[in-house]
Amino acid sequence: MLVIAMDGPSGSGKSSVSKGVARALGLRYLDTGAMYRAVTWWMLRQGVPLDDQAAMAARAGEPVLSVGTDPDAPSISVDGTDVAGPIRTGEVTGAVSAVAAVPEVRRRLVALQQEIIGTGGIVVEGRDIGTVVAPDAAVKIYLTASAEARAQRRSKELTGASVSATQADLARRDHLDSTRKTDPLARAADAVEVDTTSLTLSEVITEVVRIAKGADAGDAVREAVYGEERP
Ligand code: DC
Repeated sequence: MLVIAMDGPSGSGKSSVSKGVARALGLRYLDTGAMYRAVTWWMLRQGVPLDDQAAMAARAGEPVLSVGTDPDAPSISVDGTDVAGPIRTGEVTGAVSAVAAVPEVRRRLVALQQEIIGTGGIVVEGRDIGTVVAPDAAVKIYLTASAEARAQRRSKELTGASVSATQADLARRDHLDSTRKTDPLARAADAVEVDTTSLTLSEVITEVVRIAKGADAGDAVREAVYGEERP
């Protein structure tokens, strides 16, 4: 069962690359950031104060998440409500780092992610996949890009946001995500770093597929693609 862990900061291209690699190799796709965003949406809607870690921890077990893993139609709902749109609003984006820093929230979502991963080959994108969620993943990629390139990409996605304001917001989130105590954004020692700054999306996908077919992971990839067992 092939697991490809795709970590990296916001705007490094994780989502597009992960979906493209999943399609190329016939794997499922899991966006773990969407899960943190969904819990954040729920906390905001419930009026849970996001400056109160204990209050968030106490309610971390309540929202019921349902996550689809088709790379062509990823879906996410909370308590039966489709939240694919609402989790991309500025309100949720501005609040998600605070929620993702709560250990009880992480524990619950990591367990759910491991359950989903356990059912078959998958590309999983996030911040702590190669380090915490799937430390035994056959392929670990750490995507990076210059701060300018990441801000350019994000401001194109968010209509009306200036590049400089987006760059400042990314820097703030990177800092919060990398310095939190529980499972911070980190490159696994055995991850392959791919700098996407001057590559097109299809070049990055080709590169990741090439890495996945490389020496160490070759057997797992062959098994996923052709159904062959390891010798
Ligand atoms: O990838 P994204 O921007 O949708 O992620 C939203 C937030 O969730 C991000 O600020 C960090 C957090 N996150 C995390 O802490 N761990 C993950 N595995 C994925 C995302």
